[in-house]
Formats: sequence, C-alpha cells, structure tokens
Amino acid sequence: MTTTTTAIRLASRAAHLPPSATAALDAHAKHLIASGVDVINLTSGEPAFPTVEPAARAAAAAIEEDFTRYTPAAGIPELRTAVAAYLNRHATSYAAEDVVITAGAKQALHYAFNVLLDQGDEVLIPAPYWVSYPHMVTLAGGVPVEVHPAPDGGLKITPDQVRKAITPRTRVLLLNSPANPSGAVYTRDELAALADVAVEHDLTLISDEICDHWVYGSAFTSVAALSPEVAARTLTIGGVSKTFAMTGWRIGWVAAPASVAKVISAVQSHTASAPSSISQRAALGALTADLEEELDKRRAALDERRRSTLQALAAVPGVRVDADARGAFFVFADVSGTYGHRVGDRTITSAADFAELLLARAKVAVVPGADFAAPDHVRISYTVPPERLSEALERIAGFVTTLTRG
Ligand SMILES: Cc1ncc(COP(=O)(O)O)c(C=O)c1O
Repeated sequence: MTTTTTAIRLASRAAHLPPSATAALDAHAKHLIASGVDVINLTSGEPAFPTVEPAARAAAAAIEEDFTRYTPAAGIPELRTAVAAYLNRHATSYAAEDVVITAGAKQALHYAFNVLLDQGDEVLIPAPYWVSYPHMVTLAGGVPVEVHPAPDGGLKITPDQVRKAITPRTRVLLLNSPANPSGAVYTRDELAALADVAVEHDLTLISDEICDHWVYGSAFTSVAALSPEVAARTLTIGGVSKTFAMTGWRIGWVAAPASVAKVISAVQSHTASAPSSISQRAALGALTADLEEELDKRRAALDERRRSTLQALAAVPGVRVDADARGAFFVFADVSGTYGHRVGDRTITSAADFAELLLARAKVAVVPGADFAAPDHVRISYTVPPERLSEALERIAGFVTTLTRG
C-alpha cells in the first residue's frame, strides 16, 4: 500500500520539478512493448549497441580483485589521466588534475551549475535544448534564459542572439555541440564567434560534449581547444555513456582549470563520495583499449541510419527536416505542416498531438518538442536496428497519408 497523505512540506525549488519527459516517454513505450504491443521506440537517447567489450572485462576484473571501496573523490588517478589524454585528442591541453570523474555527464553538469551560480544568476541556454538543462539551473538557484535561433535560421544560435540575451546577471553560456535534440553541429568558426561573446562579457562557458564521437561528415571542435583564453573560462562536460554504449555504468566527467576542478571534487566528496569504483575501472578499460575500428564502424552504421531517416522524412508531406542534422543520433522534424489535419475525430494542433496519434495509430514512439522549447517539432532517434528503422519510417509516412484535411 502506498502512503498518499503527507505532512511533509517540500522546498519550492523541488516541489514543481517534473520528471524528465524523455525518460517518461521512453518508459511508456517500453511498457507498451513489454505488454505485447508492436511499438517501434524512436524516443531513446542512447545508441542500441552493446557496451564495448574491454569495459565489461575491466569491470569483471575489478570485482574479482575486490576493487570495491571508496575511491578518491575526484576519481581514480589512472582514469583522470586517461580522460585528459582522451580529451586532448581534440587539441585541448588538459592534465589529470583538471578532471573530475562523476556519475555520468548529468551529475557533472549538476555540479557545474552548483559551483558557478549564486541565487538569481542567469544561464543562457540555446534552444532547442536538452530537457534537463533548465531544471538543473533552477535546482542550483539560477535562472535559465532561452536563446532561440531565428525562425528561418536553422537550429543554431548566433552571437548577436546571445548578446541580446545578456543582462548584468548573466554568468554562464551553455553550449552543446553536437546538440540534443536537434543533431546540429556547430563549426569551429561558429563556436569561436560564440566564445568571443563569452570573453567580451566575462561569461563562463559550459560545453556539453557528450556526443563528441557522433559527428558525421563534418569535424568536431572542442570549445576548450579554441584558445588558452577560452579554455581558462570553460568547463568541458563529457562521459563514456554514448560513445562506448555505457549509459548504465554512470561514468562522466568535467574538465576545467584545476582550481575549479578542486572545488567540484570537494562538492562530490560531500555528496556522492565518488562514482562506483567498478564503473571507473570499466571506463578506464574502455578509454585505454584500441577501439578505434569498432567505434568507427558504429559511427558509420548510425550515419547510414541518419541518411535514410533524413531522406525518408524529406519525402513526407507536412514534415520538414533540417538537413543540417550532422551529429548525435537525432533528427528533429517540424510537423507544423500537419496542423489542422484530422485523424478520425481528432485534429492535430501541436507536435504533442502528432506524437500521441502517431503512437496510437501507427505504433511509433517519438518525443514531442515542447520540453525542448520547440513545440512544433518531434525528436526522432535513429538508433534502432536498420530493419526496424525502415519499418518505422514507412509507418510514419503511412500515418501522414491517412490524415485528412480538417
Ligand atoms: C546532451 C546531453 N548531455 C548529457 C547527458 C547525460 O549523459 P550521462 O549518461 O553521461 O549522464 C545526456 C543524456 O541523454 C545528453 O543528451
């Protein structure tokens, strides 16, 4: 029996915090599948590959050796060294002391906002954005401020849009390239121009680079590699979740000037102590193995799926895709062209309607964009195996052809 009455008063910053919308949808789709409904789940935020083998082996060895105690708060030294080397393949200059190992990139971001923000400090968040950013900022006492691209300007923001959003309370500019949910990848010049604004206005940069491996046919740029001046004001966030198919192992990191890393490590020492010792060994196994060929193969496989998704959706009337989706594993589709059309007795008036009816009628789950600050879009994750993806794209096209003019 659950306890429904409570005398507990919640803090206002937590009382109205909704659960992650993407996690809830993913859970709903998985529940339908478990109960026998033939749903194709395109809501997932993770590539459907197995965890890389050296990680699993290293974890098994850690258990075998009883490597199961608290580790140093900032993470085991070998892993901090390995992460610095891993990051530096993108021309940054990190040392082990600059790195703190965390329970996923999510926790790294949570720490970052907590050490940077005083009550009421503003964080500029380019829209569309990953659902968790504004909630993390609010929980840390800050104020999230959305920066939107121009209506016909694709899915990236410009320096002028950032400048217009700056107030005396602005402390942080958040960057996320490749971006979730849009799949947009900023070029080096675009990032340099945005970083210039941060330098001009003395802002700190948080660069969420969790999808650095998943870039197709264009180059990835790490913000901290732009110049020493930019590196001095940047916190680089990353992890093993997406690249090595290790989302459940919960290992991420933040890399920053050593004095900042030290403060984050102190916060972690008082809150989580450190991430799991076994998972740290697993991450070390992944980072130090020769996986280039395997990871290139996985990237090529996702690139194939990305291309077929873009191509199939471009041919669907009422659905508009941004061909600039060159990263992560999402295509972000504007479905406002279907508004006013009917399915049975329902009229589509939003991307949420579109997603709900697509799931009910065609058994394809996608994420509506409202929680990404893009209410006319749906996010389509193309990580499922190719046969299922083709089937899903056919179902989406079939669903749209059944719509009738309202
Ligand atoms: C943009 C972005 N940043 C961070 C994360 C968190 O990743 P992790 O599993 O390392 O916590 C995610 C996961 O979905 C993400 O999409």
